[in-house]
Amino acid sequence: MGHYIPDHVLSNADLEKMVDTNDEWIRTRTGIRERRILKDPDKATAFMAVEAAREALQSANIEAADVDAIIVATVTPDYLFPATAALVQKRLGAENAFGFDLSAACSGFLYALSTGTMMVESGRYEKVLVIGADTMSSITDYTDRATCILFGDAAGAVLLEPTGDETGIIDFVNHTDGDLDCHLYQRAGGSLHPASEETVKNRDHCVYQDGRVVFKKATEGMADVSLEIMNKHNLNGDDVAWLVPHQANKRIIDATARRMGLSDEKVMINIDKYGNTTAATIPLCLYDWKDQLQYGDKLVLSAFGGGYTWGAVYMTWSLNR
Ligand code: ACO
Repeated sequence: MGHYIPDHVLSNADLEKMVDTNDEWIRTRTGIRERRILKDPDKATAFMAVEAAREALQSANIEAADVDAIIVATVTPDYLFPATAALVQKRLGAENAFGFDLSAACSGFLYALSTGTMMVESGRYEKVLVIGADTMSSITDYTDRATCILFGDAAGAVLLEPTGDETGIIDFVNHTDGDLDCHLYQRAGGSLHPASEETVKNRDHCVYQDGRVVFKKATEGMADVSLEIMNKHNLNGDDVAWLVPHQANKRIIDATARRMGLSDEKVMINIDKYGNTTAATIPLCLYDWKDQLQYGDKLVLSAFGGGYTWGAVYMTWSLNR
C-alpha cells in the first residue's frame, strides 16, 4: 500500500475566516477537524497518484515494469483525456502496463478494487495497481459553506496480486442508481454543459450537493450494503475485525457500525485529519491502520457516493508481517 497527503493543512479555524461557519458546527455535524490541500498549481491528481503508487510498489518490492494494469478511480482527473492512469503509467515507468480511469465518485475505489480483483482472478493479470486519488479542492466552491468544509485532497494506492491461500478479497457487491433528480453532481464541464462564461460565473464546475437528501440516502445505503455482504457470508459483528468505511461524515459511519453490530474500536476513522477525499478515503484508512492489521482479519469495506453509487467488499487480510 502507498499514500500521498499534501502538506498544506486547511483547518476549521481557517474556514471560519473564509465562510460563515465555526469549528464546533463542523466537528459535531461531520467529525472533520482539518483537511489537506494540494497547493502547487503545477501538481494535481496524477502527481498524488504517482507518489502513492511508488510507495505501494516499493513496499511490495516490485518494479514498475512488472505492473500489468493501472486503474485510477477519480472524479478529478488532470484532464478529461488522456486518462490520469495514462499519465501515471508514463511517470511511474510502468512500460508494460495499460491503464484507465474509473469514475464512481466516493465509491470509485471499491468499484476499482472489484474490477482489479476480477482481472487478477481471471488469471490474465498478476499485478494490478488500484489507485484512488482526488484533488477535490479543484472542484470545491470555497464560498459555499455547505460543501467547502467537507472535502480534501489525497491519494491511496494498493497493488493487487494473486494470493497463495484462501485469504484476500473474497467477495464484493456494487450498486448504482442513476437518480435523475441529481442531488449531488458537477453541473458543467461535461458534454451537456461545456465550459462557458456563464458556467464559470455560476460556479457550475464545482460540487453541487443537497446535503440533507444525500445524508439520508448515504446513511441507509452504506449500512444496507454492509449488511448485505455480511449476510451473504453469514458474518455477525463479532466476526468482523474492521469496518473500513468511506469517510464522508462521521455520523454516517457511526450509523453503519451500529447496524453492523460493531463497537467503535473496530471502525477505521480518519475523517478528522483528512475530510472527504472521495476515491482516496478507503486506501488511506488501510494505509493508516496497516500496522494493526493481522493476517486473517476479516474486513468489510463500504462506501456510498455520487451517482448514486455504493458498494462493499469482504476480504480477509493476507499480508503476513
Ligand atoms: N456552518 C454552519 N452552518 C451550516 C454550515 C456550515 N458549514 N453548512 C450548513 N449550515 C446550516 C444550514 O444552512 C442549515 O441552517 P438552517 O437550519 O437555518 O437552514 C443548518 O446548518 C443545517 O443544515 P443541514 O444541511 O441540514 O446540515 P446537516 O446536518 O445535514 O449536515 C452535511 C450537512 C454535513 C453536508 C450532511 O448533510 C452530509 O454529510 N451529507 C452527506 C454527504 C455525503 O455523504 N456525500 C456523499 C459523498 S460525496 C461524493 O460522492 C463526492
